[in-house]
Amino acid sequence: MNPVRLSILGAGHIAGKTAAAAAHLAARGEIRLRAVAARDPARAAAFAARFGFETSFGSYEELVADPETDLIYVATPNTLHAPHSRLCLEGGKHVLCEKPFTANAREAKEVLALARSRGLFCGEAMWLRFLPASAAIGEALRAGRIGEPRMIEAVFEVPISEKERIREPALGGGALLDLGVYPIAFALLHFGEDYADATGRATLLPTGVDDQSAFSLGWADGRIAALACSATAAGGAAGRIVGTEGAIDVPQLVRCDGFRISPFSGGEPEDFSLPFECNGYEYELRAAARAIADGLSECPEAPHSATLAALRAMDALRAAWGIRFPCDA
Ligand SMILES: NC(=O)c1ccc[n+]([C@@H]2O[C@H](COP(=O)([O-])OP(=O)(O)OC[C@H]3O[C@@H](n4cnc5c(N)ncnc54)[C@H](OP(=O)(O)O)[C@@H]3O)[C@@H](O)[C@H]2O)c1
Repeated sequence: MNPVRLSILGAGHIAGKTAAAAAHLAARGEIRLRAVAARDPARAAAFAARFGFETSFGSYEELVADPETDLIYVATPNTLHAPHSRLCLEGGKHVLCEKPFTANAREAKEVLALARSRGLFCGEAMWLRFLPASAAIGEALRAGRIGEPRMIEAVFEVPISEKERIREPALGGGALLDLGVYPIAFALLHFGEDYADATGRATLLPTGVDDQSAFSLGWADGRIAALACSATAAGGAAGRIVGTEGAIDVPQLVRCDGFRISPFSGGEPEDFSLPFECNGYEYELRAAARAIADGLSECPEAPHSATLAALRAMDALRAAWGIRFPCDA
């Protein structure tokens, strides 16, 4: 079977990291690097040449019309994910869209309904879900390594509040959608999507979006995820799953390439190391390519239900904190 022909829409910061992972997969014959589109044709061409894409376009519309593109990775700011994903799907292209999949759950439902109606793959590039270490943590939990899991604690703190896309409500700014989405994904991945409620408190930037917040998800059986994010503190990302007989510590919650299991009985802690093949973004690309080859509409690692559950939590938290984006209307 011919490898999936991948193109990139928006040549910014994260697109460069994903392109490096795509080049890694292309060197192994797993995908084909087709095209890059940016609003500036010269930047698109330079980006394409740097990573070895076959061609480039100076507009997103030209990319969507490219008959040799199968899958488009959307890497624009949060509120543009829905319109750009729709543009791609209407052009008959499969879509892998950066996190958060859209700015709110309503938009996500609309995009996914469009993908369904066109018979196309569409998914969220929540890379944490695709990492080998995430699968290994799941196996450890299912094997009862920490007894009955009861609590999750997870934070992501990076001082990025000066960036325009973080400050601006019109771009879907705020720490929650950019950073908090990871602790939420971690909690939903390991405790399930059927949380009962989401509550918390936030400090707002003068632009009206959240600068930092502490919040919790609660499950009907009493399990709790205590989560936090900040766009001004600089603590990085870490996670912990605590059970009745032990704990799993994840020192790098987002770039997760290892974890430690500590039994409470006094036994020795056990360290697990699962280094990336490239930079970690190769796993989501490989999974999307495999799903398309298999005729699937979603990746089993990051199902649509998980994307919607995360957005519903963020919608509820933003509503409680009085944060509205123009696209919420
Ligand atoms: N998975 C991860 O680890 C990770 C890390 C960081 C960010 N992200 C996500 O990736 C997305 C992009 O973040 P980034 O850090 O790559 O941002 P960035 O460097 O600012 O790049 C965003 C790109 O969006 C395009 N764009 C189109 N319309 C725009 C507009 N009106 N204003 C600004 N940019 C516009 C631009 O593409 P052209 O001008 O090139 O066309 C720009 O290069 C966000 O949704 C973010 O949440 C993911």
